[in-house]
Amino acid sequence: MTTPTPKLSMENLASLCKRRGFIFQSSEIYGGINGFWDYGPLGCELKRNIREAWWRDMVLHREDVVGLDCSIIMHPRVWEASGHVGGFTDPMIDCRSCKKRFRADQLFEELGIEPETGNQIEKKFKLPAGTKCPACGSLELTEPRAFNLMFKTYVGPVADDSSVAYLRPETAQGIFAQFGNVMSVSRQKVPFGIAQIGKAFRNEINPRNYTFRSREFEQMELEFFIKPGTDAQWHEYWVGERMRWYHSIGLPKESITKYVYGKEELAHYASACVDIMYALPFGVQELEGIAARGDFDLGRHQEFSGKSMEYFDADTQKKFVPHVVEPSAGVDRIALALLCNAYREEWIPKEGAAIEAEPGKPAPEGCELRTVLRFAPRVAPIKVAVFPLLKNKPELVAKSREIFAGLRGRWNCFWDQTGAIGRRYRRQDEIGTPFCVTVDFQSLTDNTVTLRERDSMQQVRIGLSELQAELERRIA
Ligand code: GAP
Repeated sequence: MTTPTPKLSMENLASLCKRRGFIFQSSEIYGGINGFWDYGPLGCELKRNIREAWWRDMVLHREDVVGLDCSIIMHPRVWEASGHVGGFTDPMIDCRSCKKRFRADQLFEELGIEPETGNQIEKKFKLPAGTKCPACGSLELTEPRAFNLMFKTYVGPVADDSSVAYLRPETAQGIFAQFGNVMSVSRQKVPFGIAQIGKAFRNEINPRNYTFRSREFEQMELEFFIKPGTDAQWHEYWVGERMRWYHSIGLPKESITKYVYGKEELAHYASACVDIMYALPFGVQELEGIAARGDFDLGRHQEFSGKSMEYFDADTQKKFVPHVVEPSAGVDRIALALLCNAYREEWIPKEGAAIEAEPGKPAPEGCELRTVLRFAPRVAPIKVAVFPLLKNKPELVAKSREIFAGLRGRWNCFWDQTGAIGRRYRRQDEIGTPFCVTVDFQSLTDNTVTLRERDSMQQVRIGLSELQAELERRIA
């Protein structure tokens, strides 16, 4: 397993994300609200690119997957059938003295106490006598108690037991509940998949590590329905596909690893589960889980709703409840991984390539410090920035505007005419724009411009007639 990048400080990254408009604390003007985040102008473009890359690769480029967009609030029976009402809990421990609440697994880890028994899924926590609250030092800790992570609400004007509903804690159950409808309209045959992107909500006891564990987040889930008995081969297929996808959005091979669940760690209905992990600065963490869940989900909805979830196989003339393989990813965690992977502080000598800066040390004589986000062009919030060399030369501005108008029809582009060109390049480096186009006096006579690439900082002169095709080739 790879180790986290020791040089990246989350404080520096969070400060850049706020300063440049990637991520803000939700309701900041009122002091914020724990576990909720807002994405600024660049953050929402980054997330949109992640969603679009996933949708394009998982749905549009495949003949065997269709999309779905379900409501966030569903009939409460959905969550009884799925097991979330009874079992979607985290064990928590309260301090009666200082009123702090801890997740049992995190408290045990912090205090170096081994759980009594159990596997990854069902750890049993028993508080040893004499355990002190890590916040206030008192002995007033409660025994672990189950805490349901679903957000409860009421539908309609009367708030009583009959109107209870939940904000979905995952998008997957909407797919299972609509399996029959999608099956009958989409002309798909098993094996086929249904994909959904949308918000999910979990009342996490202890949201932490910036956006990594939030109370409101976005999932991209695929339920791929298969014939019973083909679970292992499809599970392996999807693990391979999903690993490749992470490389395609710019996460290097060596930073992405798999955590393969042992038999004793699997839920009783699952035959396999692999987590896709990324080495974040605070540890190697899960970005996505890929589980072979058998017929558990459709079977439970069949039982609870009384509606058949069977599929009729025309080839064998037999009916069966399809099994499912579920790759389930989090948009916010992928955005965080992309930001961490892209963030660099570099020393730029007057000539030659950039050197990775040593944290805390001033730039050596003759070097300048630059902060750069080395996003893959595919996910970069802005693809191209266009600059007139001087803002007070109308002919340069007019020509640049013309080029800008042409490019922005195709990509998200940025216009900047203020400050020295070097400063404008640095501003784009900091937000991860892979290409800058500068229009100078030569452009007016020979229709060429300077095309500058972010990582190498190399500049080439290129004819306007070739600019779009060259960018197309390099951004694709
Ligand atoms: N339907 C399966 C399911 O929801 P999960 O492992 O609980 O599985 C899938 O969630 C993905 O959703 C995770 O791998 C993660 O990327 C994201 N996710 C889950 N809880 C999250 C949280 N509190 N904050 C941010 N992302 C979260």
